[in-house]
Formats: sequence, structure tokens, C-alpha cells
Amino acid sequence: MTEKHSNHTDNPRVLTGITTTGSPHLGNYVGAIKPAIQASQSSDVDSFLFLADYHAMIKSHEPEKIHQSSMEIAATWLALGLDPEQVTFYRQSDVPEIMELSWILTCWTAKGLMNRAHAYKASVQGNEANNDDADFGITMGLFSYPVLMAADILMFNGQQIPVGRDQIQHVEMARDIAQRFNHHYGPHFALPEAVIDDNVAVLQGLDGRKMSKSYNNTIPLFETEKKLKKSINKIKTNLLEPGEPKDADDSTVFQIWQAFASAEQIADMRQQFADGIAWGDAKKCLFELVNQELAQPRERYAELIADPAAMEAILASGAEKARAVTVPKLAEIRSAIGIRPMCA
Ligand code: TRP
Repeated sequence: MTEKHSNHTDNPRVLTGITTTGSPHLGNYVGAIKPAIQASQSSDVDSFLFLADYHAMIKSHEPEKIHQSSMEIAATWLALGLDPEQVTFYRQSDVPEIMELSWILTCWTAKGLMNRAHAYKASVQGNEANNDDADFGITMGLFSYPVLMAADILMFNGQQIPVGRDQIQHVEMARDIAQRFNHHYGPHFALPEAVIDDNVAVLQGLDGRKMSKSYNNTIPLFETEKKLKKSINKIKTNLLEPGEPKDADDSTVFQIWQAFASAEQIADMRQQFADGIAWGDAKKCLFELVNQELAQPRERYAELIADPAAMEAILASGAEKARAVTVPKLAEIRSAIGIRPMCA
């Protein structure tokens, strides 16, 4: 494999994508963005991080929403300190080789394998529960989305793939597809593995369930300071009065506190709960802690959103770095499958 123009090394390749639907919230920050940025700062890995905008089409057919979400997600990662010099940060749609590989892999993917994908199966089950036709509302995009994800990964020889638990199966499918391909054509693709970080907190939302857009219980990451305060005040608590001891482990306020606080601050707040801190005071402390961490990135975020040309330039240079890998890789794959010039 020749990657003449790239500055990539022999370090293990860590690759992950973010689907560009929705606006980042505190749960995304604690559970995915912050740990990924920290990991990308290590010098013994090569990190590839991309905006999975073609994946967004599986979930949304609203052009403005997809566009807006791409901007917000790019600005979020950059505002929080992702260094585009150190990682390869790109937009999937800027790297057309991925889509070409996706077709090649489609021709190597058993339909039966896709039949078993959880996301697709959940849609079928939903239809059955509603007495609809099993295929109702299911596009080929949804059905074959694990193939596109395999192309995202295999195109870069991604080895370690940090994902949420819901995505483990897709990474295993990518591995399966790579193995079949390699078995027939020779060892062209690295075999990827899902990496799950058990230390990462799954943040609770306003109602105490997992913070998630689908539960409508999120705290947006970069809302104004005033709104952040308001959101934190909306976190559900019980009716215990000031002075009455409170169970820290049964409290969303404390759960979010833990995700932002030092060990010392955690122990201290636990004591304050036992001593009967008023909910209003606990929320005030939480606001201050979260705000302190987010205030500066919030300013950078606002600057980036106001300067889309600067983000576009960063993504263009990311695409250039990415294509230094994908152009030669696709040429290698095409040649392997017999699609090559008629004469040397
Ligand atoms: N499907 C992933 C998600 O919904 C996002 C994604 C797309 C991805 N391509 C990827 C993750 C490749 C890891 C590797 O979360």
C-alpha cells in the first residue's frame, strides 16, 4: 500500500464517524466527544474522525436539518479542542472513494447477513407490531447501511473502532465482509474491532432516563448560559425539603455532577447530599461546574458557527489528507477485482 502524500504513520488506526442528524447534547459530550478527543491526543494512534453525512440520509430527508447538523457537529468537535492537524477530520461525502468501495463491498455482502442487522430488524418488528407490511417505510439505505459503514472503516484500514454498544454488530459485520473479501482476493483490508469504553458514563437526562434525543430529555451542549441554567433547573428531583438527607446515588443532579467533577468534588457533594443540601443549591453548584467547563468552548463554538468558510477550509484540508489514503487504496482494490486499464 502506498500513501505517498499522507503524513500517516504505522500506528494503529482508530476510526469513528458521527452521523449528522441532530444537535450535540451533554450526553454526547460526556459519553463520546470528550473521550474521543482525549484519545485522539495520544501520539501512539492515528485518528480518523468523520462527519457521516451520507449516513444521515438514512434517518432524515430534510436538507436543511442535515446541513445545519453538519455545521453544528463540526463546530462542536473543533470548539472542544479536536486538532485537525493531529487527526484526519473529514466529511464522508468529500471522499467519493468511500461510495465506490461501498458498491464493491455490497457485491460481497450476503443478504442474509443484512437481514440480521438489529436496526433493520427493529424496523420490521415495529411494522409487525402495527400490523403494517413488513417492508413499510424501509429503504434500501436502511437495509444496507452496515455495508456503507464497512466501507467507511475498511477504506482506511481502520483497526480500532470506538462505538456505542448499539454499533458493535455493525463493526463485526465489517469484519466479516473484510474476511470474505480478503479470502478471495488476498489480504487487502485490516480486520476492524469495536472498542467499547466501559469507564465512560451514560449520562441521565432531565427525566432520569438515559439522555437521548428520542426521549426529548436532553440538555443541549452549547445553549446560552441562561438556557443552560434553566435546563439544569428542570432536572427532575424528589420532594425532599432542604435539610432532609438525600440519596446521591438516586439523583440525576448527582449523576451529572459525577461526570464533570474531580474525585474530591464528588466526595464533597456526596457529603452535602447526606447533610440535606437543598435541591436548588445542588442545581446551582451543578450549573456552575458544567458552565465552567463549557464557557470557553461555547465562545469558540459561536465563532466557528459564524465563520462557516473557516470550517469549510478545515474540512477541505481534512478531505485532502483522507484522499491521500483512499485514492491509492481504491486503485488497489479496483485492480484486485479486475477493474483496471486495458494496457499498462
Ligand atoms: N453508524 C454510526 C452511528 O450511528 C456512525 C458511523 C458511520 C460510524 N460510519 C461509521 C461509526 C464508521 C464508526 C465507524 O453511531
